[in-house]
Amino acid sequence: MTNLLTPTKETASANSTLGAALDRIDGPKKVTGAATYAYEHAVEHVTYAFPVQSTIAKGRIAAIDARAALALPGVLAVLSHENAPRLVATDGAEMAIFQSDAVAYHGQFVAAVVAETIETARQAAQLVTVHYEQQPHEAVLRAESADLYKPDHVNPFYETDTESGDIETALAQAAVTLDQTYTTPAEHNNPLEPHTTLAVWSDDGAHLTLYDANQGAYRIRDTVAQAFGLAPEQVRVISPYIGGAFGSKARVHPQVVLAVMAAQMVRRPAKVALTRQQMFSVAGYRTPTIQRIRLAAGADGKLTAIAHDVIEQTATIQEFAEQTALATRMMYAAPNRRTTHRLARLDMPVPAFMRAPGECPGMFALESAMDEMALACGLDPIEFRLRNEPQLDPETGRPFSTRGLVACLQEGARRFGWQQRDPRPGLRRDGRWLVGTGVAASTYPARRRPSSARVRVESDGRYTVAIAAADLGTGAWTALTQIAADALDVPLARVHLEIGDTALPAAQIAGGSMGTTSWGAAIVEAAQALRKRLHEEYHDIVPAAGLEATAETGDNPAAQQFAMHAYGAQFAEVRVNRDTGEVRVPRLLGVFAVGRIINAKTARSQLLGGMTMGLSMALHEESVLDPQFGDYVTHDFASYHIATNADVGAVEVAWIDEDDRHVSPMGAKGIGEIGIVGTAAAIANAVYHATGIRVRDLPITLDKLLPMLS
Ligand code: MOS
Repeated sequence: MTNLLTPTKETASANSTLGAALDRIDGPKKVTGAATYAYEHAVEHVTYAFPVQSTIAKGRIAAIDARAALALPGVLAVLSHENAPRLVATDGAEMAIFQSDAVAYHGQFVAAVVAETIETARQAAQLVTVHYEQQPHEAVLRAESADLYKPDHVNPFYETDTESGDIETALAQAAVTLDQTYTTPAEHNNPLEPHTTLAVWSDDGAHLTLYDANQGAYRIRDTVAQAFGLAPEQVRVISPYIGGAFGSKARVHPQVVLAVMAAQMVRRPAKVALTRQQMFSVAGYRTPTIQRIRLAAGADGKLTAIAHDVIEQTATIQEFAEQTALATRMMYAAPNRRTTHRLARLDMPVPAFMRAPGECPGMFALESAMDEMALACGLDPIEFRLRNEPQLDPETGRPFSTRGLVACLQEGARRFGWQQRDPRPGLRRDGRWLVGTGVAASTYPARRRPSSARVRVESDGRYTVAIAAADLGTGAWTALTQIAADALDVPLARVHLEIGDTALPAAQIAGGSMGTTSWGAAIVEAAQALRKRLHEEYHDIVPAAGLEATAETGDNPAAQQFAMHAYGAQFAEVRVNRDTGEVRVPRLLGVFAVGRIINAKTARSQLLGGMTMGLSMALHEESVLDPQFGDYVTHDFASYHIATNADVGAVEVAWIDEDDRHVSPMGAKGIGEIGIVGTAAAIANAVYHATGIRVRDLPITLDKLLPMLS
């Protein structure tokens, strides 16, 4: 193992646990109920707010009759645009609840009841009568819509379109071409813990404390402070434990604003917890996509053109431009290239981040197309990818800091037993089951962002490591403790970690798979600074308690020199029932090149979880739209299907050795999102191999197979 503090000397730190499969240090607290989640914080005189949601998709509120609700014992207030506090500045209109009579989507918060108990609030919310003036709405994403527009950029700051060479000529002259459209449905994030906020104002109204389920306490603090006209220092956000997020807790959603307003209105603390049904309205969702892929290749199986044109949706009130074609810009070599994104502005809830936004739906399309193209070229799909491996990032011309795609494909092929595979579809039978295997590549950007951390020597010889990081259930509590112990060269037990609080040094959110790299870099730098001070000022005598060092990392300069991405290869075995069309996935294998692994156990869990979510995407997940109603009608787990234990077979997770110091001083990349990327394509490719039926429209439900099965 390498000592982080002296990466050039490669001296081993005797105390290093980097890479070890350690149990979660927060595990016992969680299973015994001692870890306090946002909704569980106990405060005196707490009240409960419950929203009233719009029953129309577009129009205005003509009148609100709150008399029956207010007459219910225990009801303290009814909030609406008629009496709610005015917000000063908002980060998008989704959070700007109760600011006007306009209704922009079905399910929007139009009023809320504040009451002594959650039951009273919920009952009273049903007694609030809202009269609307309804206007025609548009809720359907259509490729042929005349109103599609080109956003200024796609998330988070990428060019909307890229083009080089001449696609049309390359397609016209190619020996082999493909032109297919792939579609993915809207999908909804469903973390186990719903979005919850407890808002507590100080008596003088000068300080606001939020106990909130989020991916980054500082981002919530700054957004709320701005909205309510407060200085950031007047707001404290406390979020030590989070029950999952998957992107849906990355920004302020309406329930945060509701809690703050309710507490302000009744001058008592207020709690809001979204119900599972409400999570389908105001917590974000993955946009549906319509993706046209065109590929051209020579007789040698080398791509000469790659074009990826994406159509997706955003809301009328706030733009969300998913970066769906991003991965296509660097996955494979080809002299002629093009990516575009066009948006439809719909009278719908605002789309948001959902695990690997962009890469996940985009790689379903690209990796399905690569499978089809390999077959058209008469090549094994792994061999086809190897022939199109770029030496430099094809669009920027930058070298890759590390690129483990080939290694993942080869190691995966070895583990999966790919060599024996007969490429012909529809041949393997086991009774009434058709059996097939598929492969797809996986990728996710490897980035980090500025963060700060503080390390302090305590009188008992322990080191307090403070950083406003967020553990979404990912293992950050454990991984950051390991990184700190390694950097300080002390046993784990001597590190006391503090996270999830804006009283701690500011840090990047847990998003974009940038948590560990960003926070780890800051912790390593702070630990180095502290050790330097200990060495210089104390000459290795007993260190004085209270000595501390703070580090503030800047942008990673390597990001300007290198193309930095994580890679993976996903393999799937599927069984398709010839009589019913149902699909089973007895086996998944994911091999990843994600930099240095900090904790083998939590890393495996992250990757396994991502692959499981990818299986869920492939076979089950779909938010079903009712165009008349103007909203998704799947608002619970009875109608919105996710993979459960019985749907998941053997899932094997592996990684290749990689150590990328350009990305982070630990050599780690990021593992939160890559696990879901490519899984759905691997399964779709396996379904083709099993049946000869190519499903280009997710999810792969039996109705899409049954008519063609004999
Ligand atoms: Mo992740 S979906 O970037 O929070």
